[in-house]
Amino acid sequence: MNAIFERRSIRKFKDLEVSDELIRKVIKAGAEAPSAKNRQPWKYIVFKGQAREEMLNVMDMGLDMALAEPSLPEQGKAGVMDAKNTLRIMRGAPVIILVLNTNGVSPFGKPLDIFSHITEICDSMSCGASIENVLLAATDEGLGSLWIANTFYAHEPLRAYLKTDKQLIAAVALGYPDEDPVKRPRKDFEDIIEIRS
Ligand SMILES: Cc1cc2nc3c(=O)[nH]c(=O)nc-3n(C[C@H](O)[C@H](O)[C@H](O)COP(=O)(O)O)c2cc1C
Repeated sequence: MNAIFERRSIRKFKDLEVSDELIRKVIKAGAEAPSAKNRQPWKYIVFKGQAREEMLNVMDMGLDMALAEPSLPEQGKAGVMDAKNTLRIMRGAPVIILVLNTNGVSPFGKPLDIFSHITEICDSMSCGASIENVLLAATDEGLGSLWIANTFYAHEPLRAYLKTDKQLIAAVALGYPDEDPVKRPRKDFEDIIEIRS
C-alpha cells in the first residue's frame, strides 16, 4: 500500500547509475503479474549508456519523420510534440526500458477480427499489470519511474531498430528521483465506485 500511495511519475532523475541487480529485481516484479491465460506477453529490453543514447536518437529521428508526414492531422502533430517533450525527459533518465507486447500487432498491422481484438485487449491489460508491478517495485526500492506511451509516435523506426515485429507497447524511464512532485489529482472516489447489493 505504501508504494501504491507514494508512487509518482518522475520526470527528473539524478545523474546516478542504477545497478543491473536492481534493474533485474524490479523487472522480476513485473514477471510476477497476472496475465490472461497466463500468456505473460511481455518482454523488457533495458537500455543504458551508449545503447540508450543510440535508441533515443532513433526515437528522435522517428518523431521528426512523423512531423514531416504531410498527412499528419493537427491532433497527431500535438501528439508528436508531446512525445518530443517526453523524449527530452527520457534523455535525462539513466535507464530506459522498452516493453514489448509479444502477442500485439495493432495498430500498425492488419486490422484485427473481433476475437483477435479481444485477445489483444487482454494482452495489453496483462502488460499493464506487469508494468505497474515494475513501477511499484521501483518505488519500493527508492527509484523513480515514468510510464511512457509516447514511443508509439516512433513505433516503426524503433521496431526496425530493435529488429522485432512485436508491438512496442510502452517504455519505462528509471532512475533515482531528483524531484518530489505533488500528487496529481484523482477523481472523487465516490464517482468511481458503485457497490450494488
Ligand atoms: C499508459 C500510460 C502512458 C503514459 N505515457 C506518458 C508519456 O508518454 N509521457 C509522460 O510524461 N507521462 C506519461 N504517463 C504518465 C501519466 O501522465 C501519469 O501517470 C499521470 O499524469 C498521473 O500522475 P502520477 O503517475 O504521478 O500519479 C503515462 C501513464 C500511463 C499509465
